[in-house]
Amino acid sequence: MDLRIKSFEEYTEKYALSVENTDQFWGEIAETFTWNKPYEKICNWDFETPDIKWFVNGKLNITENCLDRHLAKRGNKLALIWEPNDPKERFVRYTYRELYEKVCAFANALKAQGIKKGDRVVIYMPMIPELTIAVLACARIGAIHSVVFAGFSAHAMADRINDAQANMVITADGLNRGAKQVPLKRVVDEALRTCNSIEKVIVYDCVGWSPNMVDGRDIWWNDAIEGMAKDCPAEVMDSEDMLFILYTSGSTGKPKGVVHTHGGYMVYTAYSFQNVFQCDESDIYWCTADVGWITGHSYIVYGPLLSGATTVMFEGVPTYPDAGRFWQVCDKHGVNQFYTAPTAIRALMAYGEDHVLSYSLDSLKVLGTVGEPINEEAWKWYHIHVGKERCPIVDTWWQTETGGIMISGLGDLSPMRPAHAGFPLPGIQPVLLDQEGKEIKENKVEGYLCIKHPWPSILRTTYRDHDRCRVTYFSHYKGYYFTGDGAKRDENGMYRIIGRVDDVINVSGHRFGTAEIENAINANGIVIESAVVGYPHEIKGQGIYAYVVCESLPEDRETARAEIVETVVEQIGKIAKPEKIQFVTGLPKTRSGKIMRRILRKVAEGESDKLGDTSTLVDPDVVDEIIKGAL
Ligand code: WTA
Repeated sequence: MDLRIKSFEEYTEKYALSVENTDQFWGEIAETFTWNKPYEKICNWDFETPDIKWFVNGKLNITENCLDRHLAKRGNKLALIWEPNDPKERFVRYTYRELYEKVCAFANALKAQGIKKGDRVVIYMPMIPELTIAVLACARIGAIHSVVFAGFSAHAMADRINDAQANMVITADGLNRGAKQVPLKRVVDEALRTCNSIEKVIVYDCVGWSPNMVDGRDIWWNDAIEGMAKDCPAEVMDSEDMLFILYTSGSTGKPKGVVHTHGGYMVYTAYSFQNVFQCDESDIYWCTADVGWITGHSYIVYGPLLSGATTVMFEGVPTYPDAGRFWQVCDKHGVNQFYTAPTAIRALMAYGEDHVLSYSLDSLKVLGTVGEPINEEAWKWYHIHVGKERCPIVDTWWQTETGGIMISGLGDLSPMRPAHAGFPLPGIQPVLLDQEGKEIKENKVEGYLCIKHPWPSILRTTYRDHDRCRVTYFSHYKGYYFTGDGAKRDENGMYRIIGRVDDVINVSGHRFGTAEIENAINANGIVIESAVVGYPHEIKGQGIYAYVVCESLPEDRETARAEIVETVVEQIGKIAKPEKIQFVTGLPKTRSGKIMRRILRKVAEGESDKLGDTSTLVDPDVVDEIIKGAL
């Protein structure tokens, strides 16, 4: 089960093998897992349809690999450590056996509530152990989980429930977040007004409120598990059966349901977890992401548990009760691998070094980042003050669609260069394409980042809309998966991700489509039209800058801004709040009616002097007005 590469030389050998003999490479890894029936073929694929299958006709259940197979050797080993929002509260620890029993009991509860293989279950939960238990319990019985980040609004949740045609929501009364408590059940109730597929709602009592419980529909978690057996046979799944749907933003207004399947996702998340983080058997590993995002799915829940590791789950925020909270938790639990987002590092940097210098951080061995490019200043701060210049930093590039880490250092094995994700993992074949879609073979170049061969955890489809998957990822460059990112490759072949080249904005590591935010803004009655771009933001990486056209320029701009922000919060959630809203009388458009975003982006970036050619605009005067009014 140890899938670790032990040296950089071995990496080079394995990488070569993975390209020359892909089947042999993945076959040796896949056979270390528990299969109910062996697969007949490693991979069948075409990027045209696309039609991608891994471990063809193999039968398994991912949770048997996360839990059951560890029981003999690791039954008493800690699987999960949960650290609460409030450091004065008691933390929770579950061994593999305890987690197994909790998952089985809840899986039985789901069955008792009528959930069966293939049903979709939306999970809208705080960062508590029950979230992980709910995810695994769904997988155990073959239900498809779709976790919705608990910061999304009722409107956003309803869209996801309706798209997935989900039968059940699992939620809590509320959640703790720093000094605040946030109602969750109330948001679910509001969402369900516009959803008719939901039959049952399971509610976990997290903050001790008494939410409204609808008779016949809503049931408390503790009542649901009452008397349930602590064993539950795992549903036998095909490798290609859906494991989960996770909604993510793209360049159109509507988020899409990225689909991952049992077999390939299992093999790749375990393989990448072990190699990137290089955890030893007794290590404690902590990823600070939320399970509502892909990072939490792959590297809090599945990757670590598949590997028999001890994974830490944190309910709180980095700045509560103070900006030393992350470091206090590292010392408290003796964390060895610490994985976070550049935006969190930049936010903590702003509080100064004292907080981090108050803790020893002796246990740390490997540091990681994910979600957005890390700037050199933040990289150095992390390296010096957190890693004491002794811990390697793995800058892990990947996406919801890739399921697992694609380009990254491997613990302390790989050469490291600040702000560079580095080399691809074995099995991953990235290429840079030029404007014409031709592969650029040399080094010291820049281009569109694509992948030319499938890997086990590549997305299979976008839920109920396969053509959208084809158009978005496989039609830009024939024969390649297109990532949407631009990247550089240095003289040694190391990759540096520059950022999105499509209409996706990455705010604090959260993805939003510009059209998605524009739709939200336009839902406000005073707005006629809007255009949204990203601009560099010191802490969030990118901030949201909105240009808004109203019937007439609002007299009280502050109030109008506040109202528009409120609409965005209602439509999507607080995480999508525009930072800047500029009221304009028109948008720069070409004769065909296309908004020239390039111009808006330059103005938002404060580079109005570099607008380039504006002669194709219908009304060039509007540009002067926009420049004058820039925020
Ligand atoms: C960006 C998060 C630079 C990138 C796992 C990608 C990164 C998008 C990195 C996916 C990194 C992620 N360096 N950029 N190490 N990691 N990104 O789907 O633009 O939430 O396309 O997945 O985040 O975001 P997603």
